[in-house]
Amino acid sequence: AALLGDIYRNQLGGDASNGGLTRAMQLACQRLEGAFTLLAVHADQPDVVVAARRNSPLVVGLGDGENFLGSDVSGFIDYTRRAVELGQDQIVTITADSVEITDFYGAPAEGKEYHVDWDPASAEKGGFPSFMEKEIHDQPDAVRQTLLGRSDIHGKLTLDELRVDPELLKHVNKIIVLACGTSAYAGQVAKYAIEHWCRIPTEVELSHEFRYRDPIVDENTLIVSISQSGETMDTLMAVRYAKEQGAKTVSICNTNGSTIPRESDAVLYTHAGPEIAVASTKAFLAQITAAYLLGLYLAQLRGNKFQGEIKDILADLGKIPAKVQRILDNEAQIKELGQSMADAKSVLFLGRHVGFPVAMEGALKLKELAYIHAEGFAAGELKHGPIALIEEGQPVFVVVPSPRGRDSLHAKVVSNIQEVRARGAKTIVIAEEGDEAVKAYAEHVFYIPETPTLLAPLLATVPLQIFALALASAKGYDVDQPRNLAKSVTVE
Ligand code: M6R
Repeated sequence: AALLGDIYRNQLGGDASNGGLTRAMQLACQRLEGAFTLLAVHADQPDVVVAARRNSPLVVGLGDGENFLGSDVSGFIDYTRRAVELGQDQIVTITADSVEITDFYGAPAEGKEYHVDWDPASAEKGGFPSFMEKEIHDQPDAVRQTLLGRSDIHGKLTLDELRVDPELLKHVNKIIVLACGTSAYAGQVAKYAIEHWCRIPTEVELSHEFRYRDPIVDENTLIVSISQSGETMDTLMAVRYAKEQGAKTVSICNTNGSTIPRESDAVLYTHAGPEIAVASTKAFLAQITAAYLLGLYLAQLRGNKFQGEIKDILADLGKIPAKVQRILDNEAQIKELGQSMADAKSVLFLGRHVGFPVAMEGALKLKELAYIHAEGFAAGELKHGPIALIEEGQPVFVVVPSPRGRDSLHAKVVSNIQEVRARGAKTIVIAEEGDEAVKAYAEHVFYIPETPTLLAPLLATVPLQIFALALASAKGYDVDQPRNLAKSVTVE
């Protein structure tokens, strides 16, 4: 602000007319480095707003006799669904009826207009006490919408928006998923499915670690970034780095027109609708769904799966919304447990296979919302150290794989429950309906509907979200705006 004021007064003589403020913004931006979104108004011309962006989000909303600026479209979808995305290093000058875009040197630039298909009502609480609770309840729809229109009746995936040459995708020999936080856990879940279905080695890496370790990336590497906001700076920088190395980049994103999809070769949107609460819930389920669609598409393209197999998996995915709804219809039991545990000092989460990222996501929800120590572990790792944490009364959530699933995984996790229980843990178990074996060792059991193992995270996560929400609410915390956190992390 000081630089802008100085340029405006001393270089331009303090004249706001004839685009003086816009010119001052251009000159200021030429001297700035790093990432910023700036907005300026002048008292002499209060009907003009000038804004600029570099490596940081800025979107224009086009109204009727009114225009808007926001870091994302949720700021103005109550007023207009027409949005203009600003490019990198651009300046926009808006009045109630004009929008002019230039680059930092004053050259006119074109903004790309697009339609925001979010329903404005979906950005309101819809009768729920918090956005987070509403968004947990939006999850059946988030999955449904993400699946909608992406396959035909024969189970053939038609991901038309994925404008990457199919030949290139056929030659991909490695996938690297880049993401942070909850989105990274969605990536970790997807890794199990993509490797199983496509037989392509798949790594999942936190975006902020990726480019600092000299990763091996080339033109046969497919980068799949996952981001709800599409503005996470760590992920954006990692995607840019991978592009520079020649990789193809696909973005899985929930926010239309945001920076990461814009800078990627292709995008597969999750259609979860606006996620307002800082803690991510419905985006997680939608991200897993979209990543699964991508995995199945690759399997279809590369011939790893017969069409009938893909059709069957899609049919199982299609049943997920109703199953999530059943969990939500029975949320009272897990809510009560959350409320009764408001005094907990530490909660541990164990999971194995796809249940491992679910355990970490359950722990993250509790840290973010309730500010208590929570840790997710791979159940098999227990004996390698974490079991030393178990003492009398220590709450331990265990995400149990289906007894109908692979090999002896179920038995192994049940034996983990026994091990922690024998050392005094209070065991809280998420298991599949009909799994009687866990009952003997669980203080509390929450049953989720039967589903194939790879799809189970779409169900098992839901009780953990409800638990964290209930516990944090019982402590009187603001579940939509937890302390110290921002919805979009637009700085590195
Ligand atoms: O918008 P993104 O998905 O890129 O955000 C990534 C993380 O910042 C985000 O998932 C964060 O961990 C949430 N607060 C989790 O609830």
